[in-house]
This record gives sequence, structure tokens and C-alpha cells, in this order.
Amino acid sequence: MAEKFEPRIVGFLCNWCSYAGADLAGSSKLKVPSSLIPIRVMCSSRVDPVIVETAFLRGADGVIVAGCHPGDCHYDEGNYYARRRFAVLKKVVETLGLESDRLRLSWISASEGQRFADVINEFNEKIKKMGPNPIRKKTSL
Ligand code: FES
Repeated sequence: MAEKFEPRIVGFLCNWCSYAGADLAGSSKLKVPSSLIPIRVMCSSRVDPVIVETAFLRGADGVIVAGCHPGDCHYDEGNYYARRRFAVLKKVVETLGLESDRLRLSWISASEGQRFADVINEFNEKIKKMGPNPIRKKTSL
């Protein structure tokens, strides 16, 4: 009998906006899937592409990078750098043999607890439909 697939999603959340949005979702008792492994970063621009690749190589089924809305980054232009890097990162994910949709970038502010819950739930459902990260099977991590 096949086991029910529960994704593992690594979320890199900017401290000032998205992490606070996650906190608000939690304190508002909104339903967020337990598949999310949140990692707090100071800014979305601090998410090095190597870290994202490592997450996938170690078996993450999905990776989400979330930061402040454009124009609201606490370091002025950090999220613009993240957005530019993200376009390249999508290609890198494909070279790993993964669907680029396993990687997502979202802007979620500190006051958007509901949006945080909605984005994570939607991404979780999408990853469930895609199935497990095929690299995980090959490397048995
Ligand atoms: S501080 Fe939030 S994206 Fe830069």
C-alpha cells in the first residue's frame, strides 16, 4: 500500500516581513501545513542560490523564498536583488532535473497573516500534486 505523501517544504522567510507574517498567521490560529520548515533570514537577498540547491539536493520537495513587498525591503533594494537572482535560480533548479515550479518567490508583509497561510497552503497543494523530489529517491537522504 502506497504511503500518503507529505511534502517537505523549506521556507526562507525575511525577518522583517514574511517571518512576522508567519507569526501573525500562527497567533491568529490560521491553518498552515506542518510540511513547512521555516528558516528566518534577515532579507530575501540573503538567500544564497547554493543554499537553495542544497535544500533540494538534501531532499526538500519545495522551496519558498518570501520577503517584503517591492519597495518595502528594510535594506532598500534587497528584494530586487532576490527577484533578479530568482529568475536565474529557476533555471538552475531545472538543471538539477527538477520542475522549476518547486521553487517559489512570494512577497508577504508582516500584516498579511492570511496571505501567508494562503500562499503556503496553495504551494503545499501544488507540491503534493507534483509528488516527491526525485533527487530524494536517488540519493536516499
Ligand atoms: S528586509 Fe524583507 S526582503 Fe529585504
